[in-house]
Amino acid sequence: MEEIKKEIDESKQGQTTMLDSNTEGARKVYIESYGCQMNFSDSEIVASILTKDGFNTTKNLEEADLVLVNTCSIREKAEQTVRNRLKSFQHAKKKKPEMMIGVLGCMAERLKSKFLEEEKLVDIVVGPDAYRDLPNLVQQVDEGKKAVNVILSKEETYADISPVRLLSNGVSAFISITRGCDNMCTFCVVPFTRGRERSRNPESILEEAKDLFNRGYKEVTLLGQNVDSYLWYGKEGLKKNFDTLSDEEKAESMNFAQLMEQVALISPLLRVRFSTSHPKDITDEFLHTMAKYDNICKYIHLPFQSGNSRVLEVMNRGYTREWYMERIDKIKEIMPDCSISADIIAGFCSETEEEHKETLSLMDYVRYDFSYMFKYSERPNTQAQRKLDDDVSEEDKSRRLSEIVALQRDHSFEINKNYVGSVYEVLVEKNSKRSDDELAGRTSQNTVVVFPRKDYKVGDYVKVHVHDCTGGTLLGTAVE
Ligand code: SAH
Ligand code: SF4
Ligand code: F3S
Repeated sequence: MEEIKKEIDESKQGQTTMLDSNTEGARKVYIESYGCQMNFSDSEIVASILTKDGFNTTKNLEEADLVLVNTCSIREKAEQTVRNRLKSFQHAKKKKPEMMIGVLGCMAERLKSKFLEEEKLVDIVVGPDAYRDLPNLVQQVDEGKKAVNVILSKEETYADISPVRLLSNGVSAFISITRGCDNMCTFCVVPFTRGRERSRNPESILEEAKDLFNRGYKEVTLLGQNVDSYLWYGKEGLKKNFDTLSDEEKAESMNFAQLMEQVALISPLLRVRFSTSHPKDITDEFLHTMAKYDNICKYIHLPFQSGNSRVLEVMNRGYTREWYMERIDKIKEIMPDCSISADIIAGFCSETEEEHKETLSLMDYVRYDFSYMFKYSERPNTQAQRKLDDDVSEEDKSRRLSEIVALQRDHSFEINKNYVGSVYEVLVEKNSKRSDDELAGRTSQNTVVVFPRKDYKVGDYVKVHVHDCTGGTLLGTAVE
């Protein structure tokens, strides 16, 4: 997996979680998370459920009574990382045989009870919709059994659970607004591991965002596999098509643009971000809402996967190259200062050299600030695995990926150079990695800016004049 990394967007893979509360004598849980932001957000829900059940969290594996790994299945390599990690737990378990080990998330859902046979070390297997059952599953293990719950739900959104903000810097936090995915892209395992798409009750989303703001947070990111297809129609449950709603449901309904507006209205001092949007669902209404509010960050992650319409059809992406380009034109027309990033897959089944070149030419057309770029990795039971040949050689996949990565590097560098000379409002998120005398934060466009601290602190909005750039980071000085 190749990614262009930024100082703040740096992968948090495998990061552990800790709470400040520490009840004497309580059992301790250690949680490690892999995969997408949804997994990190889910780990915060899991921590909340287990703390209510009397657990404390720890970031020290050795002192844990319960070790949980929140796993990802998106590519083979992601699963391999988790398997290696589980093996490395053996050492800790030898020293402390009563230590329970549990697997959460997408790999748990994909492998179900097979996990217990394959990885003898594991005691608990829990899918993404079954986290409320964790206290009960822990009890089963206490009674000497192995415990599995991988039931997927059509309603579960964990709307009433207030996540424990584990990884947060106290400035920005994630809020899940949808779960699951109905898109069935042929390469993708997510519809199988996360189940059907459902939208969370908007009241609970707004309450969570207001509560975060009142507690000093300055930025929320609305999360889902496909946030722009958010649709609430008055009840919990499977997402429906707007046209099929009754008059009553239509009156109560809320789409993504409307939800976004409500969140933006909480306070001009609360930045709002969202991830991920799907090109087929990004509407003009939403783009106009984005443009209307300064605190909705001018940054869209809009994965395109391939620049060729035939490949897009084989991927079942639901749009063509032309449709995608038209959406990009619209974004640039409505918000000329909006930055755009993408996910790209190199070497999908049957992709020819010419079709790959169309991916490069689409990158030239859009000029992404950055991209997440991947070699196609066949996943068990997906449509592609069942019906298509993984026929692009490993060598071609690697070469195509390196061409994509090289082009993206050029684009990122040129775009960053264009930021030099202007003033941007930066929300300070942390000390810079390079020095404690410097702070790091992001612009609305999601670009990382590092500048001398002076009297500024984490959580401040600071106007910064950018005078240089290195890699993915802008360097500047505060102008106020
Ligand atoms: N829901 C998001 C993406 C979630 S997965 C969306 O549709 O935009 C994140 C990215 O992983 C995808 O955008 C895709 O680029 C990549 N990906 C998914 N399945 C893959 C596979 N089998 N091989 C390689 N990359 C894959
Ligand atoms: Fe996977 Fe496609 Fe759903 Fe994204 S939209 S999670 S790529 S099926
Ligand atoms: Fe991975 Fe599951 Fe997210 S497969 S990318 S953790 S939805």
